[in-house]
Amino acid sequence: MRVAFVGKGGSGKTTLSALFARHLSRSGAPVVAIDGDINQHLAHALGLDEDESFPAPPLSAHLGEVKDFLRGTNPRIASREAMIKTTPPGRGSRLLRLLGDDEIHARHLHEVGGVPLMVTGAFDESDLGVACYHSKLGAVELYLNHLVDGSGEYVVVDMTAGADAFASGLFTRFDKTFLVVEPTRKSVSVHRQYREHAAEFGVPVAVVGNKVADEDDLLFLKEHVGDDLVAHCVRSDFVRAQEQGRAEGELEPHNAHALRLLRDAVDARTKDWDAFQKHAVEFHLRNAAAWADRATGHDLATQVDPDFRHGPVALAPGH
Ligand SMILES: Nc1ncnc2c1ncn2[C@@H]1O[C@H](COP(=O)(O)OP(=O)(O)OP(=O)(O)O)[C@@H](O)[C@H]1O
Ligand SMILES: [Mg+2]
Repeated sequence: MRVAFVGKGGSGKTTLSALFARHLSRSGAPVVAIDGDINQHLAHALGLDEDESFPAPPLSAHLGEVKDFLRGTNPRIASREAMIKTTPPGRGSRLLRLLGDDEIHARHLHEVGGVPLMVTGAFDESDLGVACYHSKLGAVELYLNHLVDGSGEYVVVDMTAGADAFASGLFTRFDKTFLVVEPTRKSVSVHRQYREHAAEFGVPVAVVGNKVADEDDLLFLKEHVGDDLVAHCVRSDFVRAQEQGRAEGELEPHNAHALRLLRDAVDARTKDWDAFQKHAVEFHLRNAAAWADRATGHDLATQVDPDFRHGPVALAPGH
């Protein structure tokens, strides 16, 4: 199950991604956390020393190798150059299992605070303002497009702030998207924006309230986001202590309960692999027409394999 945390800058995406990923991994569930934000903070939120940098290479630093690995022997993808972030898998493509024994997990995964983590790599100027905006996130999109995950295993992605999260098809690759909302007018206005975007693509949005201080805060949230609210976290001394470099205490019972509610919300989703692949193809064709055919010099619609069925069936021998 793929889970994304999105929301206004500073709302608590990284904090909740870290808490949720750790909650899952402590329960014994297989988890991969991915830092997909412009500024890479998830490793530190999981407990990496502030003066240390994440030891495994970012996915974006090996995008070419990632593409070569994933395209495998798929005859429809002629080269790594012809493979773009939305190129969907087809027969011959290599599919990934969560935490599988493959070169991508081997090269990019490193455990922090008990949670296996991969990072996309910090964005720079060259990633902004071009047609393939957020190209660094392309590696995450490819990873998710080629992943066959099941219930009871989780990918948790800390996404970029604000509406940027909708700049690519990436946001349709999740089973559950949690919008982190603080009890402020700015934060709830982001909720309205998201809702509209997400509805266009049939992506359900679930709200997690954060930094809730009292009953008035909770009422404010309920008034503005209504039934979208699945859980809320209160202001946490535990989080604050961690941020000050003091690893002390336990997460407050209220916040621990909120994490269990989030997990229940994820577990309640059922996967629809045919719909997942259909959306991947739609986004790919849209990208191809908008910029990628021109940029690559290929007719990228020919990469779509109409007979490919994604999901566990695609892992069966001889598929
Ligand atoms: N429930 C909480 N209790 C106390 N402090 C919190 C809580 N949630 C977040 N914070 C603090 O608020 C600040 C912003 O949180 P965080 O970095 O997780 O937000 P973000 O949405 O990831 O921000 P950005 O948009 O910059 O990536 C941090 O200092 C974090 O420790
Ligand atoms: Mg963050």
